[in-house]
Amino acid sequence: GLPERVTIYEVGPRDGLQNEAAVIPVEVKAEFVARLAAAGHRVIEATSFVHPKWVPQLADAAELLAVMERVPGVRYPVLVPNERGLDRALEHGVEEIAIFASATETFAGRNLNRTLESQFEMFEPVVARALAHGLRVRAYVSMCFGDPWEGPTPVAQVVSVGRRLLDLGCFELSLGDTIGVGTPGHVSALIEAFGGPSRLAVHFHDTYGQALANTLTALREGVTVVDASTGGIGGCPYAESATGNLATEDLVWMLHGLGVETGLDLPSLVETSTWLAARLGRPSPSRVVQALGEN
Ligand code: HMG
Ligand code: MG
Repeated sequence: GLPERVTIYEVGPRDGLQNEAAVIPVEVKAEFVARLAAAGHRVIEATSFVHPKWVPQLADAAELLAVMERVPGVRYPVLVPNERGLDRALEHGVEEIAIFASATETFAGRNLNRTLESQFEMFEPVVARALAHGLRVRAYVSMCFGDPWEGPTPVAQVVSVGRRLLDLGCFELSLGDTIGVGTPGHVSALIEAFGGPSRLAVHFHDTYGQALANTLTALREGVTVVDASTGGIGGCPYAESATGNLATEDLVWMLHGLGVETGLDLPSLVETSTWLAARLGRPSPSRVVQALGEN
């Protein structure tokens, strides 16, 4: 069966924008976040407090939080890799953070400048301090299906990393297909290896066109939280060949077609996507926007 309702964890302002080369004005980012809330989103990952030299596009995280309108009842998590990032997030009144680990040795080095093992030494004090401050902490694990340098990722290795993150006290674990190589059978095997869908979310990049099929598979396995990016933009600057996230519009089209509630208004999302495409100077890759929008 399928869940009656799915929570879409919107990552457009963070995962979507982090890969954009041209710096986007902070007012545009604030308007993007406001439009997403107006379209019905209740969780919007707003930005990240990573090293500004590593991701220059999001170096304005503090400014964004200062100008951003917050709608009551909407969560605005931010990405935080380390204690310096947590300090910055706490200074700006953040109530929810997301840490992000790697399932592979090579990507831990490339994305975090840590080893597979030493990334945990970085995360442990972040989670402990965040929980002590009453924050909610989500965890991502990247390269869950494959890695550009190491090939397919062993399922047991993903489960081992993921369990350690949950054991730190994270309320949710998002399984990231950073480069979009996963296929449905692999998705089922991974969720089953975790012992079922409890506390799991899924995060598919659509590089190989598998994101919707993979999402449907995860829903059938009982997952009810799905990450997606309005506009279908995104990618990780430290992962070769990573392209956009699953487009929220495409996900919503499928879910509403299946009678699954999302709380989202599709025409508003399509309008936001078209608006964003004009700001970025190129058409939205979303198929639904191409079909319905004035792209
Ligand atoms: P590092 O160079 O090892 O940092 O980078 P360090 O701990 O050695 O510190 C060096 C200097 O940087 C120090 O300054 C720190 O204060 C400063 P100094 O004392 O020399 O003057 N520093 C910072 N400044 C501001 N904010 C900070 C911060 N941290 C240190 N947070 C680090 C380690 C983790 C910081 C770096 O590797 C980094 O920022 N990486 C982030 C890369 C990133 O953002 N990638 C994209 C997001 S992940 C993703 O997209 C995948 C996901 O979508 C899921 C999926 O698709 O699979 C989540
Ligand atoms: Mg991602």
